[in-house]
Amino acid sequence: MDRGLAAPNQTLKMIPSFVVNLPKGSETGTYLALDLGGSNFRVCEVTLEGAGSSGAVSNVRMRQRKYVVSDDLKTGRGTDLFDFFADCVREFLVENGIHATDPAHNELVLGFTFSFPCSQTAINKGALMHWTKGFTASGVEGQDPVQLLQDAFHRKQLRVRVASLVNDTVGTLVAHAYQDPSTHLGIILGTGTNAAYVERIDRIPKWDGPIPASGKMIVNTEWGAFDQEGVVLPLTSYDSVLDRQSAHPHLQTYEKMVSGLYLGEVMRLVLADLASTGELFRGVSSTVLTTPYSIDTALMSRIERDHSAELADVRVVLEDLISIPKTSAEDRRIVKRVAELIGTRSARLAAAGVAAIVSKINRLDDCTVAIDGSLFEHYPHYANRMRDALREIVGIAADNILLVQARDGSGQGAALIAALADA
Ligand code: GLC
Repeated sequence: MDRGLAAPNQTLKMIPSFVVNLPKGSETGTYLALDLGGSNFRVCEVTLEGAGSSGAVSNVRMRQRKYVVSDDLKTGRGTDLFDFFADCVREFLVENGIHATDPAHNELVLGFTFSFPCSQTAINKGALMHWTKGFTASGVEGQDPVQLLQDAFHRKQLRVRVASLVNDTVGTLVAHAYQDPSTHLGIILGTGTNAAYVERIDRIPKWDGPIPASGKMIVNTEWGAFDQEGVVLPLTSYDSVLDRQSAHPHLQTYEKMVSGLYLGEVMRLVLADLASTGELFRGVSSTVLTTPYSIDTALMSRIERDHSAELADVRVVLEDLISIPKTSAEDRRIVKRVAELIGTRSARLAAAGVAAIVSKINRLDDCTVAIDGSLFEHYPHYANRMRDALREIVGIAADNILLVQARDGSGQGAALIAALADA
Protein backbone atom coordinates (compact mmCIF):
# COMPACT_ATOMS: atom_id res chain seq x y z
CA MET A 1 0.00 0.00 0.00
CA ASP A 2 2.79 2.43 0.89
CA ARG A 3 4.55 1.78 -2.40
CA GLY A 4 1.33 2.50 -4.31
CA LEU A 5 0.75 5.70 -2.35
CA ALA A 6 4.28 6.86 -3.08
CA ALA A 7 4.52 6.29 -6.83
CA PRO A 8 2.49 5.36 -9.90
CA ASN A 9 2.67 1.96 -11.63
CA GLN A 10 2.87 -0.16 -8.49
CA THR A 11 1.04 -3.45 -7.98
CA LEU A 12 -1.47 -1.82 -5.67
CA LYS A 13 -2.55 1.19 -7.70
CA MET A 14 -3.84 3.16 -4.68
CA ILE A 15 -5.78 5.57 -6.88
CA PRO A 16 -6.78 8.97 -5.43
CA SER A 17 -10.51 9.21 -6.11
CA PHE A 18 -10.77 13.01 -5.96
CA VAL A 19 -13.45 12.51 -3.33
CA VAL A 20 -12.19 14.60 -0.43
CA ASN A 21 -15.30 14.89 1.69
CA LEU A 22 -17.65 12.37 3.11
CA PRO A 23 -21.25 13.53 2.86
CA LYS A 24 -22.69 15.39 5.83
CA GLY A 25 -26.05 13.68 5.58
CA SER A 26 -27.76 16.93 4.69
CA GLU A 27 -27.31 16.69 0.90
CA THR A 28 -30.51 16.82 -1.11
CA GLY A 29 -31.58 16.64 -4.75
CA THR A 30 -32.35 14.17 -7.50
CA TYR A 31 -29.58 12.60 -9.55
CA LEU A 32 -29.15 9.81 -12.03
CA ALA A 33 -26.63 7.07 -11.50
CA LEU A 34 -25.31 4.52 -13.90
CA ASP A 35 -23.62 1.56 -12.33
CA LEU A 36 -21.48 -0.90 -14.29
CA GLY A 37 -20.24 -3.49 -11.82
CA GLY A 38 -19.45 -6.89 -13.21
CA SER A 39 -22.40 -9.02 -14.12
CA ASN A 40 -25.03 -6.32 -13.94
CA PHE A 41 -25.57 -2.87 -15.16
CA ARG A 42 -28.06 -0.57 -13.44
CA VAL A 43 -29.64 2.76 -14.13
CA CYS A 44 -30.94 4.53 -11.04
CA GLU A 45 -32.69 7.70 -10.12
CA VAL A 46 -31.59 8.66 -6.63
CA THR A 47 -33.38 11.22 -4.53
CA LEU A 48 -31.42 12.45 -1.52
CA GLU A 49 -33.76 13.67 1.15
CA GLY A 50 -31.22 14.79 3.76
CA ALA A 51 -31.45 14.05 7.46
CA GLY A 52 -34.54 16.14 8.18
CA SER A 53 -34.92 18.37 11.20
CA SER A 54 -35.02 15.62 13.83
CA GLY A 55 -31.47 14.53 13.03
CA ALA A 56 -32.84 11.17 11.96
CA VAL A 57 -30.93 8.92 9.57
CA SER A 58 -30.57 10.50 6.14
CA ASN A 59 -33.05 9.21 3.68
CA VAL A 60 -32.47 8.04 0.14
CA ARG A 61 -35.18 7.07 -2.33
CA MET A 62 -34.29 5.05 -5.39
CA ARG A 63 -35.91 3.95 -8.59
CA GLN A 64 -33.76 1.56 -10.52
CA ARG A 65 -33.66 -0.98 -13.25
CA LYS A 66 -31.13 -3.73 -13.89
CA TYR A 67 -29.95 -4.75 -17.32
CA VAL A 68 -27.75 -7.68 -18.29
CA VAL A 69 -24.55 -6.92 -20.19
CA SER A 70 -24.18 -9.75 -22.71
CA ASP A 71 -20.84 -11.44 -23.32
CA ASP A 72 -20.88 -10.00 -26.85
CA LEU A 73 -21.05 -6.48 -25.47
CA LYS A 74 -18.33 -7.21 -22.89
CA THR A 75 -15.94 -8.45 -25.54
CA GLY A 76 -17.03 -6.49 -28.65
CA ARG A 77 -16.52 -2.88 -29.68
CA GLY A 78 -16.37 -0.22 -26.98
CA THR A 79 -18.69 2.13 -28.87
CA ASP A 80 -21.38 -0.57 -28.95
CA LEU A 81 -21.02 -1.02 -25.20
CA PHE A 82 -21.40 2.71 -24.51
CA ASP A 83 -24.28 3.05 -27.02
CA PHE A 84 -25.99 0.25 -25.10
CA PHE A 85 -25.59 2.22 -21.85
CA ALA A 86 -27.10 5.31 -23.46
CA ASP A 87 -30.00 3.26 -24.87
CA CYS A 88 -30.70 1.83 -21.41
CA VAL A 89 -30.68 5.31 -19.89
CA ARG A 90 -33.10 6.53 -22.55
CA GLU A 91 -35.41 3.56 -21.92
CA PHE A 92 -35.27 4.15 -18.17
CA LEU A 93 -36.09 7.86 -18.55
CA VAL A 94 -39.01 7.17 -20.88
CA GLU A 95 -40.41 4.49 -18.56
CA ASN A 96 -40.26 6.85 -15.61
CA GLY A 97 -41.55 9.91 -17.43
CA ILE A 98 -38.30 11.86 -16.95
CA HIS A 99 -37.53 14.45 -19.67
CA ALA A 100 -34.06 14.44 -21.14
CA THR A 101 -34.34 15.64 -24.72
CA ASP A 102 -36.43 18.77 -24.25
CA PRO A 103 -34.26 21.95 -24.03
CA ALA A 104 -36.97 23.51 -21.85
CA HIS A 105 -35.90 21.20 -19.03
CA ASN A 106 -32.64 21.38 -17.13
CA GLU A 107 -29.89 19.00 -18.04
CA LEU A 108 -29.88 15.87 -15.89
CA VAL A 109 -26.82 15.25 -13.75
CA LEU A 110 -25.44 11.73 -13.63
CA GLY A 111 -22.91 9.90 -11.47
CA PHE A 112 -21.08 7.11 -13.31
CA THR A 113 -19.97 4.11 -11.30
CA PHE A 114 -17.47 2.38 -13.51
CA SER A 115 -15.94 -0.45 -11.52
CA PHE A 116 -12.61 -0.92 -13.19
CA PRO A 117 -9.16 0.53 -12.46
CA CYS A 118 -9.17 4.11 -13.74
CA SER A 119 -6.46 6.64 -13.02
CA GLN A 120 -8.28 9.86 -12.27
CA THR A 121 -7.31 13.44 -13.05
CA ALA A 122 -10.56 15.03 -11.82
CA ILE A 123 -13.78 13.92 -10.19
CA ASN A 124 -15.26 13.48 -13.69
CA LYS A 125 -12.18 12.58 -15.69
CA GLY A 126 -10.01 9.49 -15.87
CA ALA A 127 -8.54 6.78 -18.02
CA LEU A 128 -9.19 3.05 -17.93
CA MET A 129 -5.84 1.47 -17.06
CA HIS A 130 -6.87 -2.03 -18.06
CA TRP A 131 -10.02 -4.12 -18.08
CA THR A 132 -10.70 -6.71 -15.37
CA LYS A 133 -13.47 -9.27 -14.67
CA GLY A 134 -13.68 -10.76 -18.18
CA PHE A 135 -14.29 -7.48 -20.05
CA THR A 136 -12.17 -6.92 -23.17
CA ALA A 137 -14.24 -4.38 -25.21
CA SER A 138 -11.98 -2.66 -27.74
CA GLY A 139 -11.07 1.03 -27.84
CA VAL A 140 -11.71 1.67 -24.15
CA GLU A 141 -8.37 0.95 -22.43
CA GLY A 142 -6.42 4.19 -22.11
CA GLN A 143 -9.57 6.25 -22.81
CA ASP A 144 -11.73 8.37 -20.53
CA PRO A 145 -14.93 6.44 -19.73
CA VAL A 146 -16.71 9.72 -18.89
CA GLN A 147 -15.98 11.08 -22.37
CA LEU A 148 -17.05 7.81 -24.00
CA LEU A 149 -20.33 7.92 -22.10
CA GLN A 150 -20.85 11.62 -22.76
CA ASP A 151 -20.25 11.02 -26.50
CA ALA A 152 -22.81 8.21 -26.49
CA PHE A 153 -25.36 10.54 -24.84
CA HIS A 154 -24.68 13.13 -27.58
CA ARG A 155 -25.15 10.51 -30.29
CA LYS A 156 -28.50 9.63 -28.73
CA GLN A 157 -29.43 13.28 -28.13
CA LEU A 158 -29.81 12.88 -24.39
CA ARG A 159 -29.28 16.00 -22.29
CA VAL A 160 -27.45 14.24 -19.50
CA ARG A 161 -24.19 15.52 -18.01
CA VAL A 162 -21.76 13.05 -16.47
CA ALA A 163 -20.61 14.76 -13.26
CA SER A 164 -18.60 12.05 -11.54
CA LEU A 165 -16.55 8.95 -12.24
CA VAL A 166 -16.70 6.64 -9.27
CA ASN A 167 -15.37 3.21 -8.41
CA ASP A 168 -18.01 0.95 -6.79
CA THR A 169 -15.92 0.68 -3.60
CA VAL A 170 -15.78 4.47 -3.31
CA GLY A 171 -19.53 4.69 -3.94
CA THR A 172 -20.21 2.05 -1.28
CA LEU A 173 -18.04 3.88 1.25
CA VAL A 174 -19.62 7.28 0.57
CA ALA A 175 -23.19 5.95 0.55
CA HIS A 176 -22.70 4.20 3.87
CA ALA A 177 -21.00 7.21 5.44
CA TYR A 178 -24.14 9.22 4.55
CA GLN A 179 -25.79 7.22 7.32
CA ASP A 180 -22.90 6.15 9.53
CA PRO A 181 -19.97 8.58 9.83
CA SER A 182 -17.66 5.98 11.40
CA THR A 183 -17.50 4.20 8.02
CA HIS A 184 -13.90 4.28 6.81
CA LEU A 185 -13.78 1.36 4.37
CA GLY A 186 -15.92 0.39 1.41
CA ILE A 187 -15.45 -3.12 0.09
CA ILE A 188 -16.86 -5.11 -2.79
CA LEU A 189 -17.00 -8.89 -2.54
CA GLY A 190 -18.92 -9.83 -5.66
CA THR A 191 -17.93 -10.69 -9.22
CA GLY A 192 -14.68 -8.87 -8.44
CA THR A 193 -13.18 -7.66 -5.20
CA ASN A 194 -11.71 -4.33 -4.19
CA ALA A 195 -11.47 -1.86 -1.29
CA ALA A 196 -11.48 1.90 -0.84
CA TYR A 197 -10.69 3.78 2.36
CA VAL A 198 -10.24 7.25 3.79
CA GLU A 199 -6.55 8.24 3.78
CA ARG A 200 -4.77 11.31 5.14
CA ILE A 201 -3.53 13.42 2.25
CA ASP A 202 -0.05 13.77 3.84
CA ARG A 203 0.25 9.98 3.61
CA ILE A 204 -0.10 10.09 -0.19
CA PRO A 205 3.34 11.30 -1.36
CA LYS A 206 2.43 10.85 -5.04
CA TRP A 207 -0.48 13.32 -4.74
CA ASP A 208 0.55 16.59 -6.42
CA GLY A 209 -2.85 18.28 -6.59
CA PRO A 210 -4.26 20.92 -4.27
CA ILE A 211 -4.45 20.04 -0.58
CA PRO A 212 -8.11 19.61 0.31
CA ALA A 213 -9.43 21.47 3.34
CA SER A 214 -10.53 18.16 4.86
CA GLY A 215 -6.92 16.93 4.70
CA LYS A 216 -8.30 13.64 3.42
CA MET A 217 -8.84 11.69 0.25
CA ILE A 218 -10.66 8.48 -0.49
CA VAL A 219 -8.21 6.05 -2.08
CA ASN A 220 -9.25 3.19 -4.34
CA THR A 221 -6.70 0.48 -3.55
CA GLU A 222 -7.49 -1.91 -6.46
CA TRP A 223 -6.46 -4.66 -4.05
CA GLY A 224 -7.57 -7.32 -6.52
CA ALA A 225 -4.13 -6.94 -8.09
CA PHE A 226 -2.34 -7.84 -4.85
CA ASP A 227 0.65 -10.14 -5.39
CA GLN A 228 0.57 -10.00 -9.17
CA GLU A 229 4.25 -10.88 -8.96
CA GLY A 230 3.31 -14.15 -7.26
CA VAL A 231 5.60 -14.05 -4.22
CA VAL A 232 3.25 -13.93 -1.23
CA LEU A 233 0.03 -15.82 -1.78
CA PRO A 234 0.24 -19.61 -1.59
CA LEU A 235 -1.06 -20.58 -5.03
CA THR A 236 -2.23 -24.07 -5.85
CA SER A 237 -1.75 -25.68 -9.25
CA TYR A 238 -5.46 -24.96 -9.85
CA ASP A 239 -4.91 -21.24 -9.31
CA SER A 240 -2.08 -21.31 -11.83
CA VAL A 241 -4.20 -23.06 -14.46
CA LEU A 242 -7.07 -20.63 -13.87
CA ASP A 243 -4.72 -17.67 -14.26
CA ARG A 244 -3.15 -19.00 -17.45
CA GLN A 245 -6.53 -19.60 -19.07
CA SER A 246 -8.14 -16.35 -17.93
CA ALA A 247 -8.88 -13.24 -20.00
CA HIS A 248 -6.18 -11.37 -18.05
CA PRO A 249 -3.24 -13.70 -17.21
CA HIS A 250 -0.82 -12.46 -14.50
CA LEU A 251 -3.29 -9.77 -13.43
CA GLN A 252 -5.63 -9.69 -10.41
CA THR A 253 -4.03 -12.58 -8.51
CA TYR A 254 -5.78 -11.91 -5.19
CA GLU A 255 -9.10 -11.28 -6.96
CA LYS A 256 -8.82 -14.69 -8.64
CA MET A 257 -8.57 -16.39 -5.22
CA VAL A 258 -11.31 -14.33 -3.61
CA SER A 259 -14.08 -13.16 -5.91
CA GLY A 260 -17.27 -14.66 -7.26
CA LEU A 261 -16.30 -14.71 -10.91
CA TYR A 262 -13.56 -17.23 -10.13
CA LEU A 263 -14.51 -19.41 -7.14
CA GLY A 264 -16.77 -21.72 -9.14
CA GLU A 265 -14.03 -22.11 -11.72
CA VAL A 266 -11.43 -23.06 -9.08
CA MET A 267 -13.92 -25.65 -7.83
CA ARG A 268 -14.52 -26.98 -11.36
CA LEU A 269 -10.77 -27.40 -11.91
CA VAL A 270 -10.41 -29.32 -8.63
CA LEU A 271 -13.38 -31.60 -9.34
CA ALA A 272 -12.29 -32.25 -12.94
CA ASP A 273 -8.84 -33.18 -11.66
CA LEU A 274 -10.17 -35.51 -8.95
CA ALA A 275 -12.48 -37.13 -11.51
CA SER A 276 -9.56 -37.67 -13.89
CA THR A 277 -7.50 -39.42 -11.21
CA GLY A 278 -10.46 -41.59 -10.22
CA GLU A 279 -10.71 -40.07 -6.73
CA LEU A 280 -14.21 -38.79 -7.53
CA PHE A 281 -17.23 -40.13 -9.43
CA ARG A 282 -15.44 -43.44 -10.08
CA GLY A 283 -13.38 -41.62 -12.66
CA VAL A 284 -16.35 -40.43 -14.73
CA SER A 285 -16.48 -36.80 -15.84
CA SER A 286 -18.99 -34.83 -17.93
CA THR A 287 -18.89 -32.18 -20.64
CA VAL A 288 -20.18 -29.62 -18.16
CA LEU A 289 -17.31 -30.46 -15.83
CA THR A 290 -14.76 -30.03 -18.60
CA THR A 291 -16.19 -26.70 -19.84
CA PRO A 292 -14.50 -23.58 -18.40
CA TYR A 293 -16.67 -21.37 -16.19
CA SER A 294 -19.58 -23.83 -16.32
CA ILE A 295 -19.85 -23.91 -12.52
CA ASP A 296 -21.28 -20.70 -11.20
CA THR A 297 -20.28 -19.62 -7.69
CA ALA A 298 -24.01 -19.67 -6.86
CA LEU A 299 -23.88 -23.47 -7.29
CA MET A 300 -21.07 -23.64 -4.78
CA SER A 301 -23.22 -21.68 -2.33
CA ARG A 302 -25.95 -24.23 -2.87
CA ILE A 303 -23.58 -27.09 -2.17
CA GLU A 304 -22.39 -25.45 1.05
CA ARG A 305 -25.95 -24.80 2.14
CA ASP A 306 -26.91 -28.49 2.04
CA HIS A 307 -26.82 -29.86 5.59
CA SER A 308 -28.88 -32.99 4.93
CA ALA A 309 -27.43 -36.35 5.96
CA GLU A 310 -27.30 -37.75 2.43
CA LEU A 311 -26.45 -34.37 0.83
CA ALA A 312 -29.54 -34.64 -1.36
CA ASP A 313 -29.24 -31.20 -2.89
CA VAL A 314 -25.55 -31.71 -3.65
CA ARG A 315 -26.72 -34.76 -5.57
CA VAL A 316 -29.18 -32.62 -7.58
CA VAL A 317 -26.42 -30.15 -8.38
CA LEU A 318 -23.91 -32.81 -9.41
CA GLU A 319 -26.20 -35.21 -11.22
CA ASP A 320 -28.80 -32.87 -12.77
CA LEU A 321 -26.88 -29.66 -13.31
CA ILE A 322 -23.29 -30.86 -13.77
CA SER A 323 -24.44 -34.09 -15.49
CA ILE A 324 -22.33 -36.53 -13.50
CA PRO A 325 -24.22 -39.83 -14.10
CA LYS A 326 -24.01 -41.22 -10.58
CA THR A 327 -22.53 -40.00 -7.31
CA SER A 328 -21.89 -41.78 -4.03
CA ALA A 329 -22.40 -40.23 -0.58
CA GLU A 330 -18.62 -40.20 -0.26
CA ASP A 331 -18.30 -38.25 -3.56
CA ARG A 332 -20.79 -35.69 -2.30
CA ARG A 333 -19.01 -35.29 1.02
CA ILE A 334 -15.73 -34.65 -0.77
CA VAL A 335 -17.37 -32.15 -3.13
CA LYS A 336 -18.89 -30.29 -0.21
CA ARG A 337 -15.54 -30.23 1.56
CA VAL A 338 -13.85 -28.81 -1.55
CA ALA A 339 -16.46 -26.03 -1.70
CA GLU A 340 -15.89 -25.28 1.99
CA LEU A 341 -12.15 -25.03 1.49
CA ILE A 342 -12.41 -22.68 -1.49
CA GLY A 343 -15.12 -20.55 0.14
CA THR A 344 -13.24 -20.34 3.43
CA ARG A 345 -9.98 -19.45 1.74
CA SER A 346 -11.76 -16.58 -0.01
CA ALA A 347 -13.31 -15.22 3.21
CA ARG A 348 -10.05 -15.49 5.14
CA LEU A 349 -8.05 -13.72 2.43
CA ALA A 350 -10.69 -10.97 2.34
CA ALA A 351 -10.40 -10.62 6.12
CA ALA A 352 -6.62 -10.32 5.82
CA GLY A 353 -7.15 -7.40 3.44
CA VAL A 354 -9.56 -5.69 5.84
CA ALA A 355 -7.16 -6.19 8.76
CA ALA A 356 -4.32 -4.70 6.72
CA ILE A 357 -6.20 -1.51 5.87
CA VAL A 358 -7.78 -1.00 9.29
CA SER A 359 -4.35 -1.42 10.91
CA LYS A 360 -2.75 0.94 8.41
CA ILE A 361 -5.19 3.74 9.23
CA ASN A 362 -4.98 3.06 12.97
CA ARG A 363 -8.63 2.40 13.48
CA LEU A 364 -8.43 -0.86 15.38
CA ASP A 365 -10.43 0.85 18.12
CA ASP A 366 -13.46 1.76 16.01
CA CYS A 367 -14.17 1.18 12.33
CA THR A 368 -17.21 0.44 10.26
CA VAL A 369 -16.57 -1.49 7.06
CA ALA A 370 -19.34 -1.24 4.47
CA ILE A 371 -19.41 -4.35 2.28
CA ASP A 372 -21.47 -4.93 -0.85
CA GLY A 373 -21.52 -7.77 -3.35
CA SER A 374 -23.20 -11.10 -3.89
CA LEU A 375 -20.47 -13.14 -2.23
CA PHE A 376 -20.72 -11.36 1.11
CA GLU A 377 -24.49 -11.20 0.89
CA HIS A 378 -25.36 -14.70 -0.27
CA TYR A 379 -22.47 -17.11 0.21
CA PRO A 380 -23.18 -19.24 3.30
CA HIS A 381 -21.07 -18.46 6.40
CA TYR A 382 -19.00 -15.91 4.50
CA ALA A 383 -19.33 -13.07 7.03
CA ASN A 384 -18.69 -15.40 9.97
CA ARG A 385 -15.62 -16.88 8.37
CA MET A 386 -14.33 -13.36 7.82
CA ARG A 387 -15.00 -12.46 11.45
CA ASP A 388 -13.23 -15.61 12.71
CA ALA A 389 -10.19 -14.80 10.61
CA LEU A 390 -10.18 -11.15 11.73
CA ARG A 391 -10.12 -12.33 15.34
CA GLU A 392 -7.12 -14.56 14.60
CA ILE A 393 -5.29 -11.66 12.95
CA VAL A 394 -6.01 -8.67 15.20
CA GLY A 395 -7.21 -10.42 18.36
CA ILE A 396 -9.78 -8.81 20.60
CA ALA A 397 -9.72 -5.59 18.50
CA ALA A 398 -11.79 -7.51 15.95
CA ASP A 399 -14.79 -6.67 18.12
CA ASN A 400 -14.34 -3.00 17.18
CA ILE A 401 -14.39 -3.70 13.46
CA LEU A 402 -17.96 -3.81 12.24
CA LEU A 403 -18.46 -5.64 8.97
CA VAL A 404 -21.82 -4.46 7.70
CA GLN A 405 -23.81 -5.36 4.66
CA ALA A 406 -24.30 -2.30 2.45
CA ARG A 407 -26.81 -2.65 -0.35
CA ASP A 408 -27.06 -0.58 -3.54
CA GLY A 409 -24.29 1.64 -2.24
CA SER A 410 -22.42 2.05 -5.48
CA GLY A 411 -25.33 3.70 -7.31
CA GLN A 412 -26.32 5.86 -4.35
CA GLY A 413 -22.70 6.80 -3.76
CA ALA A 414 -22.25 7.91 -7.38
CA ALA A 415 -25.32 10.14 -7.00
CA LEU A 416 -24.01 11.57 -3.73
CA ILE A 417 -20.61 12.24 -5.25
CA ALA A 418 -22.34 13.91 -8.21
CA ALA A 419 -24.20 16.02 -5.64
CA LEU A 420 -20.97 16.90 -3.80
CA ALA A 421 -19.26 17.74 -7.12
CA ASP A 422 -22.24 19.78 -8.27
CA ALA A 423 -22.51 21.84 -5.08
C1 GLC B 1 -12.36 -5.29 -10.05
C2 GLC B 1 -12.12 -3.86 -10.56
C3 GLC B 1 -12.35 -2.86 -9.43
C4 GLC B 1 -13.71 -3.08 -8.80
C5 GLC B 1 -13.85 -4.53 -8.34
C6 GLC B 1 -15.22 -4.82 -7.74
O1 GLC B 1 -11.38 -5.60 -9.12
O2 GLC B 1 -10.81 -3.75 -11.07
O3 GLC B 1 -12.24 -1.54 -9.93
O4 GLC B 1 -13.89 -2.21 -7.72
O5 GLC B 1 -13.66 -5.38 -9.44
O6 GLC B 1 -16.26 -4.57 -8.63
